[in-house]
Formats: sequence, C-alpha cells, structure tokens
Amino acid sequence: MVTGNVRPGTMERITTPALAESFINEQVADLKAQIGSKKVLLALSGGVDSSVVAALLIKAVGKQLVCVHVNHGLLRKGEPEEVIRVFRDEMDANLVYVDAIDRFLDKLAGISDPEQKRKIIGAEFIRVFEEEARKQEGIEFLAQGTIYPDIIESAGVKAHHNVGGLPEDLKFELVEPLKFLYKDEVRMVGKQLGLPDNMVYRQPFPGPGLGVRCLGAITRDRLEAVRESDAILRQEFAAAGLEGKVWQYFTAIPDFKSVGVRNNARSWDWPVIIRAVNTKDAMTATIEPMDWAVLNKITARIIAEVKNVNRVVYDLTPKPTGTIEWE
Ligand code: XMP
Repeated sequence: MVTGNVRPGTMERITTPALAESFINEQVADLKAQIGSKKVLLALSGGVDSSVVAALLIKAVGKQLVCVHVNHGLLRKGEPEEVIRVFRDEMDANLVYVDAIDRFLDKLAGISDPEQKRKIIGAEFIRVFEEEARKQEGIEFLAQGTIYPDIIESAGVKAHHNVGGLPEDLKFELVEPLKFLYKDEVRMVGKQLGLPDNMVYRQPFPGPGLGVRCLGAITRDRLEAVRESDAILRQEFAAAGLEGKVWQYFTAIPDFKSVGVRNNARSWDWPVIIRAVNTKDAMTATIEPMDWAVLNKITARIIAEVKNVNRVVYDLTPKPTGTIEWE
C-alpha cells in the first residue's frame, strides 16, 4: 500500500484500460486488507471522484460501504435519480438517500452574500452527514474522493472551498484510493469500473451546486428556473455534439427582473445568463465561440419552456476579468 502525500515516481500513468484494470485490482486488494470486515462511510455526491471511489469500494467490500447521498436541493435536474439508479439499482450498493432540500433552502432564505451562502451550504452539509454517520453502527473508516491535484494544489479550488469537517468523536480513519491520480486517470478507472459515460466524463460542478448560480438570495421558483434552463442547455449541447468538447457550460439567473412582452402583454421576469467556457486549469478561461443556430435554439426553448423567464443572454467575458461562476 502506498502512503504519504507524494505520488511515487515509480507509479505508471494510467493511460489504457489494461493499466486501469491493474490499478483497480491492486486497490481492491489493498482496500480489502485495510478495511477487513469493518464498515466504511462515503459522502456520494454523484460527481466523478466520489462515484469512482464508491465503485471501487463496492467492488472491494460490497455492502460494508455505506454511501450517503445528500440532496441539498441544489443539484442539477435528474442527478439524485441517477445516483440512485446507478448505485442502488445497478450496483446494489448500500445507499442512504437523504432528502435535506427544505433544511438547506430554509437556512439559505434571505442570504445574498456568495461567501455566506457557500459557508451555510458547507456547514449544513457537514451537519447532515454527521447526523447520518451517527445513525450508522460500527463505522471505522471514512472514504474520500481526494485526487492528486487536490493535494498538490492545496490552495486550489476544492480545498479552498471546503468548509469545516466532522467533529472529533467522528474522526474515522481515512480511505483515499484515488489520492495519487490525475483527473484523466480517475475517468479511465471509472470507465473500467463500468460507470456510465455521463458520470465519468461530466463537466465540473461546484459543491454548492446551483446555489451559486441562483444569484443573490435563493428563492425556490428562481432555483427551479435555473435547474430547468440548465437541463435544456445540457440537452442542446449534447444534441449539437458539444458535450465533452466544451469544458464547462451552465446557466445562471440574477436576482433582478426586467420588462418584456409575452402574448401582447407586458411581462416582468428574470433573464437567464448562458455561460460556456474553455480552460485547462480553471485559473483562466476563454469563451466558447458558440454556433449562432445552437444559441438561438437554446434561447427559443428556454423562453418557451422555463417559467418566469423573459430574456436569454450569452456571457462573452473571459476569465479574467470574469470568474467562471457568477458568484
Ligand atoms: P471560478 O468561478 O472561481 O471557478 O472561476 C473555477 C472553477 O471552480 C468551480 N467552483 C467551485 N467548485 N465549490 C466547488 O467545488 C465552489 O464553491 C466553487 N466555486 C467555483 C467552478 O465551477 C469552476 O469550475
């Protein structure tokens, strides 16, 4: 078993399915040895890293893994259902689904400062996870989807946004089977483990989810409009062959309305902002030069299908000066 926080110089880069397979076999043996007949807990968001950790652990210790999927109400359309389908239905995992939507949205009501929103979401997440951890008997290990960039860029995005941790009496021994892998290697391992492509190759999604795309104080109706417009955007990107080509794309809705016209009457509704960017490391980003016809189709669908929306705008700002997210 490899220890420490430096990727061993002898570790070959996982560039083929065969190398992914031998990594999986080695890890499964190590995890079996480390965990024995004990239980291990994992917060399973459905993101690439936690999903690959879950699939590895299911292969190694089966139902001794307890996956906790917290639905904070800020997930994209269809995500909780997909986690349940893949892990509970197909992989027969021990999955605890926690509907914490009201808890999160009640805590966030009226809070407009982006950093405060992130703190509330992070702290509430820990609290919900802690409650679920306390309900479980005999947990000795905590699995995490830490990957190598999280370690080497400890001032980087993921580490920077992490809020707090579990209380002292819940400090389990850590299990971090992906900690020396780069993202492309994690994806290769996930693919080899049989995870669906839309999970393995999906675009980055921030921990606070749609919470930082429903700008200002979150309201349920505006959050729904963000979720629905994002779903349309993703469908149309896939239809246009842009999925997997554009690094990150999403919609955001500001907390102001504008005048429009619908059915010969004045409307007073929100605008939807489309953002589609390309980057290598998220430190700088350029704008996807969108095809006009694709943008028009997305616009037509959003104004026809999403409630309380009367405009669609495309954000042309690179990073810098904009950040990728709007909050
Ligand atoms: P920015 O907006 O800073 O985003 O240019 C860079 C990358 O980081 C993601 N991001 C986050 N990820 N928690 C996360 O896990 C967050 O609070 C957060 N904020 C931004 C963003 O989606 C982009 O990929």
